[in-house]
Amino acid sequence: MTGPGGERREDCVPDLPIVEKTLGDLGDASPEQVEARFREVRRQFDRQSAERRDLEEWRVFRFAWTGRKSGVLSQITDNWLRPADPELKRVVGRELNQLKAYVESVLAEREGEIKAAAERAAAEGDRIDLSLPGIKHALGTRHIIRQTFEELERIFLSIGFSVVEGPEIETPYYNFEALNIPEHHPARDNMDTFYIEGARSPHLLRTHTSPMQIRTMEKHKPPVRIIVPGKVYRRDNPDSTHGYMFHQIEGLAVDTDITFCDFRGTVEYFVREFFGPNVRTRLRPSYFPFTEPSAEVDASCHVCGGSGCRVCKHSGWIELFGAGMVNPAVYGFVGYEPEQVSGFAFGMGVDRFAMMKYGIGELPVLFQNDVRFLGQFP
Ligand code: PHE
Repeated sequence: MTGPGGERREDCVPDLPIVEKTLGDLGDASPEQVEARFREVRRQFDRQSAERRDLEEWRVFRFAWTGRKSGVLSQITDNWLRPADPELKRVVGRELNQLKAYVESVLAEREGEIKAAAERAAAEGDRIDLSLPGIKHALGTRHIIRQTFEELERIFLSIGFSVVEGPEIETPYYNFEALNIPEHHPARDNMDTFYIEGARSPHLLRTHTSPMQIRTMEKHKPPVRIIVPGKVYRRDNPDSTHGYMFHQIEGLAVDTDITFCDFRGTVEYFVREFFGPNVRTRLRPSYFPFTEPSAEVDASCHVCGGSGCRVCKHSGWIELFGAGMVNPAVYGFVGYEPEQVSGFAFGMGVDRFAMMKYGIGELPVLFQNDVRFLGQFP
């Protein structure tokens, strides 16, 4: 037979063989003898209940005394009270009632103590040791492209540009038409991109950040001075310097009196801030439908200083980005008066800048998320 906790029945029985016998068997015939018996039982109970116990042992002990079928109190009822002679029964009954009351009150009191002790012990186990060294979580670093963005933004913010962002999914109107690139214009050739299937009107992944020139001018009257960091997409075949996605920062400044000198000065200031004070710049004629005149901005090679090396392909110059004065045709798309405003725009490849500045030879490593590479730029 097993008790409530699965323990063997014998473990629960207090060592009290006298309660298994009748008073007659024990030879008790007088009230004094009966009272002495009860005192003996009570001593046993006192001794056992005083022993320190955990909660589980305590439950077993309580069951051994008060268990309905074979607890000590039940056994006394069965073996002492029921078979007692009528004249002793009164004494046995009285003694038994007193014993019961006593046992119950002591059990209740001790149980409170034991529960409190168990709770204290549990709390002790859960206590937080504030002197233990904490668990360090690696913080990580900002991605090298993110860092480059922030560096570029800092430079332009310091001369009065603000940062705006725009959608990567664009309409052909913003990506091409409003930038003076009509359908079938050859300038679209190197801007093949991904088209969104199933869209009600045609949508594509923007090929440059220039659509934000249009979106900004549509919403704001001049003066406008913004830069636009973001992702752009082209259907390029991936190699060591190309992927289907790269990062650009667009720039646009439009006001009533912006000259080519402002353009040149801004470009030069930026290049010196980013690549170092000794780097020289030059403008080469170029072509973009949305700028006129257009230019490629070159910088003297930051590796050889202009004398010629492998990095600049022995030319002494490195191509940095495309730029130019905003083509007046563009103002017509945004409701600006071409006669009254002027401005310049530029669009830089951020990944290229990061690779040049930090001597990274391969574009793909920037996006493979290998922490051994990324961890080099804390
Ligand atoms: N949008 C052009 C490109 O991605 C760059 C550019 C921007 C050129 C602004 C001129 C002015 O190639």
